[in-house]
Amino acid sequence: MFRRSFAVSCAVALLLFGDGTGARANPCATNPCAAKRADRVTDKVAETTWKVYRGWRKVNDKPVLSATHGNRFVFTYLNKKAESSGLAGKFPFPDGTVLAKESFENEGGKPGAKGPLFIMEKRKKGYDPANNDWHYAIINPDGTVAMSGSGKAGSSTQFCAGCHLSAKVNDYVFGNGTIMKVTPIKLGEAPKQPGTARHRFAVK
Ligand code: HEC
Repeated sequence: MFRRSFAVSCAVALLLFGDGTGARANPCATNPCAAKRADRVTDKVAETTWKVYRGWRKVNDKPVLSATHGNRFVFTYLNKKAESSGLAGKFPFPDGTVLAKESFENEGGKPGAKGPLFIMEKRKKGYDPANNDWHYAIINPDGTVAMSGSGKAGSSTQFCAGCHLSAKVNDYVFGNGTIMKVTPIKLGEAPKQPGTARHRFAVK
């Protein structure tokens, strides 16, 4: 269903086979992964977001335990462009909007080590019209890009859009546990996305 990016495959392989011992079975033990690392994915907006989001408007005080994002504790931040839409519940968000979701590993029911940063960026009309022109990204705790893409078929981040589509009424934003003015969305019977597992794999 999803085309797995090479980097993700490497991460999966590392998890499955470990680093040294399963060298033969592990595609990361061979050169292509090293080459991949050299020309790894970049995403200017997402990488900048990672550096500055703490100065943005934080829209929840208490962390939300997010089953859909690797069962991590999360906090959401809005950039300036996003504030008026998000806080007033006036959708769609304007282009230039960025929502950053900070995460912490669940350590015994409390936020522990820093996890990945999940990002939604509203791009210009026409970027991905079928999915409201959102761009998705994950930044690793060390600031490198784990994933970056649209909601289009074949994109590594198609599954983000696939689930966020349930929140179409709020322009793809759920806003659970935040002060954003949203129509609450029950995921309920939403298709079981491999999102949780993939997040884990992508951000080892
Ligand atoms: C299976 C469903 C699902 C998938 C897959 C998913 N999300 Fe989410 N996302 C949610 C839900 C539900 C919330 C609301 C807060 C929470 O519970 O984490 C959310 C919240 C967010 C937010 C904060 C804005 C909001 O909607 O409240 C961002 C940013 C975000 N997700 C990014 C991503 C990215 C990037 C991906 C893909 C790498 C992704 N999400 C995949 C369900 C999903």
